Amino acid sequence: MTLKITMPGEQSGSTFSQLRLFLCFLMYCWVLADPVCGYFLKNCTIRGNLSDPSNMKVLCEKRNLEVVPKDIPRKVSVLNVAMNNISKIGKLDFKGLSNLKILNMSRNQISSVDDGSLSHLEALQELGLAHNRLTILSDHLFQGLANLSLLHLDNNLITTISSSSFQPLSSLKTVNLTKNNLHNMKEVQPIVQLPHLQELYIGSNRFTSFQSQEISNTSIELRLLDLSRNPLGIFRITADVLPYLEVLDIAYCGQLGHMEWDVLDRSFLSNVKRLNLSGIEMSLERMGMVLQTVNSSLVHLRLYDISEERVKALTDIACHIPTLSLLRLHHNNISVLSKEFLQSCKQLTEMDVCDNNINQLSELLFRSMEQLSTLKLGHNRLSSMPKATRNLPTLKILDLSFNIIHELGCPDFANLTGLTQLFLFHNQISNLPECVFQDLKELRILKLGSNKILTLNDAFMSGLPKLEYLSMSYNKLSSISKGDFKGLASLKTLLLFDNQIASLEDGAFEGLVNLTELRLQSNKITQTDIRNTVLTGLPLLRTLDISCNYITYVNDDKLDPPPFSHLTSLENLQIHSQRHKGLCHLPINFLEGLKSLLAFKAGNLNIKDLHPNTFIHTPRLWYLDVSKNEFTALTPKLFHPTPRLNRMYLSKARLQSLDFLVGANLSRVTFLQVSKNDITVVNETVFRSLPALTYLDMQDNPFTCGCSDAWFVQWMESDNQTQIVGAGEFTCNYPADLKDTKLLDVELQFCIVHLGLYYYISTTCLVLLTLIASFAYHFLKWQVIYGYYLFLAFLYDTKQRNKLTPHGCQYDAFISYNAHDEPWVLRELLPELEGEQGWKLCLHHRDFQPGKPIIDNIMDGIYGSRKTICVISHRYLESEWCSREIQVASFRLFDEQKDVLILVFLEEIPTHQLSPYHRMRKLVKRRTYLSWPRAGEQTGVFWQQLRLALETKDGSAEENPILSGVQAL
Ligand SMILES: *[C@@H]1O[C@H](CO)[C@@H](O)[C@H](O)[C@H]1NC(C)=O
Ligand SMILES: *[C@@H]1O[C@H](CO)[C@@H](O)[C@H](O)[C@H]1NC(C)=O
Ligand SMILES: *[C@@H]1O[C@H](CO)[C@@H](O)[C@H](O)[C@H]1NC(C)=O
Repeated sequence: MTLKITMPGEQSGSTFSQLRLFLCFLMYCWVLADPVCGYFLKNCTIRGNLSDPSNMKVLCEKRNLEVVPKDIPRKVSVLNVAMNNISKIGKLDFKGLSNLKILNMSRNQISSVDDGSLSHLEALQELGLAHNRLTILSDHLFQGLANLSLLHLDNNLITTISSSSFQPLSSLKTVNLTKNNLHNMKEVQPIVQLPHLQELYIGSNRFTSFQSQEISNTSIELRLLDLSRNPLGIFRITADVLPYLEVLDIAYCGQLGHMEWDVLDRSFLSNVKRLNLSGIEMSLERMGMVLQTVNSSLVHLRLYDISEERVKALTDIACHIPTLSLLRLHHNNISVLSKEFLQSCKQLTEMDVCDNNINQLSELLFRSMEQLSTLKLGHNRLSSMPKATRNLPTLKILDLSFNIIHELGCPDFANLTGLTQLFLFHNQISNLPECVFQDLKELRILKLGSNKILTLNDAFMSGLPKLEYLSMSYNKLSSISKGDFKGLASLKTLLLFDNQIASLEDGAFEGLVNLTELRLQSNKITQTDIRNTVLTGLPLLRTLDISCNYITYVNDDKLDPPPFSHLTSLENLQIHSQRHKGLCHLPINFLEGLKSLLAFKAGNLNIKDLHPNTFIHTPRLWYLDVSKNEFTALTPKLFHPTPRLNRMYLSKARLQSLDFLVGANLSRVTFLQVSKNDITVVNETVFRSLPALTYLDMQDNPFTCGCSDAWFVQWMESDNQTQIVGAGEFTCNYPADLKDTKLLDVELQFCIVHLGLYYYISTTCLVLLTLIASFAYHFLKWQVIYGYYLFLAFLYDTKQRNKLTPHGCQYDAFISYNAHDEPWVLRELLPELEGEQGWKLCLHHRDFQPGKPIIDNIMDGIYGSRKTICVISHRYLESEWCSREIQVASFRLFDEQKDVLILVFLEEIPTHQLSPYHRMRKLVKRRTYLSWPRAGEQTGVFWQQLRLALETKDGSAEENPILSGVQAL
C-alpha cells in the first residue's frame, strides 16, 4: 500500500509538474535534433586539420592520464600518449582508429594489454611501448598488425616471448628489445625468422650466450644485431645464418668472465661493415681474432672504454684492415697521441679521438693519413692549437671543441686549404689575430661560441670568402665597429647573442651583403644602438633578433629616422623581453620600412598601448606575438592594415575581452592564443569575425559561467572547424558557488536552449491550437462562436459593472431582436407595451445615440433598462443570441442574481436545437420564458404575462411566481 500525503495546492502542483515533464520532453526532442560533435579533446591537442586526416596528430603526452582518452578522432594518423600513468590497455581503447600509422605509448606503466586491443590498427606502422612494465608478450598481443614495421619494446621487464606472438608482424623491419629481462636466445627465434626483419636490438638483457643454432638453421635477412651489454660468455656461429649482417654490436659483453669467440668460418661474417667492441671483456688475443673475422669488410670500428694500452694494440691490428676508414676511440684515457699510435692508419678518412685526456699530439701524427677528411679532437685537454693539425690539405672538418685552448696564432690553420668546417667552441680563446683564418679559403662554417673573445681585431676584415655561418655567441664582445665583418661577403648567418655588446657603430654590419640571419639577443644594446645607420648594408637580411637587450622608449612618438628603414627584406623581427624596464612604448613608426615583415615577436615588453597605426607599414604581417604585455584593451583599427594576419599570440596580456577582434579584418587568422588573460565572457560575434580559425587557446581565463558563456560552450561542443585547446580545463571564476568548477561541467544548456526552446514550444502550441480550433470549428461551430461571445461578454460585463454603478434606470426594457422579426416588434409589441401598457422601451433603431460606438449604445441600453426582452426566433438564435449584448445581459442575470431577462419565443424551437446555447437551455428548462401564441390563438394572456414580468422588481428568478411555471411550450 502506498501512503499518499495530500498537500494543500497539490492539484495545481501536479499540473505544474506535468507541464514541466512536457517541457522536458520538448527540450529532449530539441536537443536530439542538434547533433553534438565537439572539436576539442579533453586531455589532448590536435595538430593538423580534422578535414585532412593524412597528417592529423593527436598529442596527449605528459597529461597524467591513467587511461587512453576516449575521445580520439577516428581519422587520426599519429597518436602520442607517451609519458603518462596508463597501466592497462583495454580491448576497445583503440577501436576504430583504422587510419593510425604511428602510436606512441612509451613511458607509461603499462603492464597488461588485452588480447586484440591492437587488432583494430590495421594501418599501424610504428608502435612505441618502450619504458613500460610489460613482462610477457602473449600470443595475441600483436594480432592484426600486418603493416607494422617498427616496434619499440625497450626498457620493459620482458622475460617471456610467446612463440606465436610475433607471427602476425609480417612487415616488421626493426624491433628494439633493449633493456629487458630476456635470457634465452630461443625466445628471440620467432622474431629473427620474420621475413623482413632487418634490425634486432636485444642489448642489455640477460643472455649468457649467442649460438647461431639457437636462432636459426638457415640464413636470415638480419642486417643489424645489437647484443651489447649482455653477460655473453660465448659468441658462437657454426653455420652461415647471418650472411647479410652489416652491423654487429657486442660492446660491454662478457662481464661475467672473459668472452669466447667461436666463429667456425671467417666467411660467416664477411659482410660486417660496422663493429662495436667497446668495453668488451675479452682477451686481447681473441679481440684480434674478432677483427680477423671481419678483415675483408670492416669500415667502421668503435673502440670505447678499452684502456690506453689495449687500444694501441687493437688500433694497429684494425688499421691493417684495408677497408677500414673510420675509427672512434672515445673514453680511453689517451693523453698523448704519438706518431707510432696511428702509424699503420694511413687509409682512414675519419679519426675520432674525442673524450680522452689528450694534451699532446706529435707534430707529424696525421701527415701520413693522406685521405683524412674528418678529425675530431673535441672534449680533450689541449691547451694550445696543435701543430699536428696544420698542413692537412685534405682535411674538411676539424673539431677542437671542448678543450682549453687559450690563444690562436697566425700559423695555427696554415695550409688547411680544404677545410670547410672548424669547431672551436667551448675553449678559452680570448684573441683573434688578424691573419689567423687567412688560409681557410674554403671554410663554410666557423663555430667560435663559448670562448672569451673580447674584440674582433680585424679577423674578419679579409679572408674567409666562402664563410656562410659564423657563431660567436657566448663570448665577451663589447662593441661592433664599422666594417668588422667586411670580408664575409658570403656570410648568411651571424650569431652574436650572449655577449656584452653595448655599442654598435654606424656601418657595423657593412659588407654582409648576403646575410639573412642576424642574432644579437642577450647583449646590452639600447635604443640608441637601434639606428638605421647601424642596420644598413644588409639588403637580404630576413631575420633579426634583438630580444633580451636594454631597449626602451619613454613614449610612442615618431622616431626620426625610423630604425629599420633599410631592412626592406626583413621577414622576422624579434624584440621581445627587453631587460630592466621593458620597451614600455612602441613608437608609432617603429616598423616603418619593414614592408616584407611576416613575423613580429614583441612579447614581454611592458607595453600598455599600441597606436592604431603601428602596423600600417607591414601589410604582409602573418605572425604576431604581443603576449605578456599590459594592454587591458586593444582597438580593432590596429589590425586593419594587416589583412594577412594568420597567427596571433596574445596570452598574458591582461585583456578583459576579445571584442577588439570584431571588425578587425581578421578573416585569415587560423591560430589564436589568448590564454591567461582576464576574459570572462566570449560572445558570438567574436568568432563570427574569425571565420578561418582552426586553433584556439583560451586556457586560464576567469570564466563567468553564466548564461553569457552559454553560447561559447555550445560553440565549443558543436564547432568542428576550430580546435579549442584544453577546453576541458576551462574553469569558472564566478559565481562564487561555481568557483573552480570546470566550465564544461556547468549546466548552461538551459540558457542556450531558452530562445530555441521558446520558439519551438510556441510554434508547437500554435500548430496544436490551429489544429484544435479548426477541428472545433468544423464539428462544434456554434458552440465555439457561442463560447467566444460568452467570453467577450464576461469581459464586458466586468467592465460595465465597474463603470455603471446602479443609478436610476432610463428605460423599463431593452428589446433585443433580429432584423427579420422587426415587423412583429413594430406592429405588435411596440403598440401594446408602449401604447397600451405605458412602458418605456429602448429600441436600437430609435433610441441609440448617434455618433456613439454601437457597442456602447447596446451596453448603455441594457444597463440603462430594468429588463431585457429577447425576441427569440431561429434567426435570432443564430445571430443575436450569440451577440455581446445578450451575453452581457445573461451574465448580469446570473451574476447579479437578478431577473433581468425576459425570453419571448416567437416560434417553437425544439430543445435539441437549443443545446449549443447553454444558458438559454438552462433558462428554458427552468421554464422562465413566454411564447407568442400560435396563429389564431388569443394574445390577451400573453400580454398580461408580459406585463407582470415587466412589473416584477429585482429578485431571484426562482422566486418569481410569474415566470415560474406559468407557461409551457
Ligand atoms: C582526462 O584525464 C582525466 C585524468 O586522467 C580523466 O579522468 C578523464 O577521464 C580524461 N578524459 C577523457 C575524455 O579521456
Ligand atoms: C633502442 O632502445 C635503446 C634503449 O632505450 C635506445 O637507447 C636506442 O636508441 C633504441 N634504438 C632504436 C633504433 O630505437
Ligand atoms: C704551407 O705549405 C707550403 C707548401 O707546402 C709550405 O712551404 C709552408 O711552409 C706551409 N706553411 C706552414 C705554416 O707550414
